[in-house]
Amino acid sequence: MKFFVDTADIGEINELNTAGLIDGVTTNPSLIKKAGRDFKEIIADICKVTEGDVSAEVIAIDQQGMIEQGKILAKIASNVVVKLPLTGDGLKACRALTAEGIKTNVTLCFSANQGLLAAKAGATYISPFIGRIDDIHTDGMELIHHLRVIIDNYDFKTQILAASIRTPLHVRDSAIFGADVATVPPAVLWGLLNHPLTTKGLDQFVEDAKAADIKI
Ligand code: E4P
Repeated sequence: MKFFVDTADIGEINELNTAGLIDGVTTNPSLIKKAGRDFKEIIADICKVTEGDVSAEVIAIDQQGMIEQGKILAKIASNVVVKLPLTGDGLKACRALTAEGIKTNVTLCFSANQGLLAAKAGATYISPFIGRIDDIHTDGMELIHHLRVIIDNYDFKTQILAASIRTPLHVRDSAIFGADVATVPPAVLWGLLNHPLTTKGLDQFVEDAKAADIKI
């Protein structure tokens, strides 16, 4: 499974790159707002330090506006993926941009039927929002499972990009249920490292190295 990082913070992206942990980046208007800089400049900067796909979301909600904005975003760099909402207009824009060879990420997916429509429209990625489904006391992970079955049944090329990931368990279960990619906030990604026995074991080795006066 690939890891994308869900942030528009270039410092966080660089730190994760140093550890070789990420294969791409996703952003959305809320993350851009948090970063507090010009949208297109942020995307250009992220693309410079990211070899993999970088999702940048349109802000128009009508078909023509989305197509125009998608083309502008796609010109920023060759690894830009245009993020479109899962609406009728979004699917039409998805089909039009796909026909021009532009990659798309259809976002705000909350049901298997929505995902099926996005796959039929030729989406490069479909983004099911796991955490937001869990927030309303429904099982977000079931959606990953259903999408995996549907996409495989009909050999769609669309990749499942598990989004709205909130916990390490979401990451583990997305991998178990066969998501192609998980987009993960930086803190959750680093959190995957944590295990009390690793900390305890390392503390013991450090203590013993001092006691044995080991020098290298
Ligand atoms: C990424 O593509 C999504 O926009 C993001 O994962 C949503 O996460 P949230 O539900 O935590 O805002």
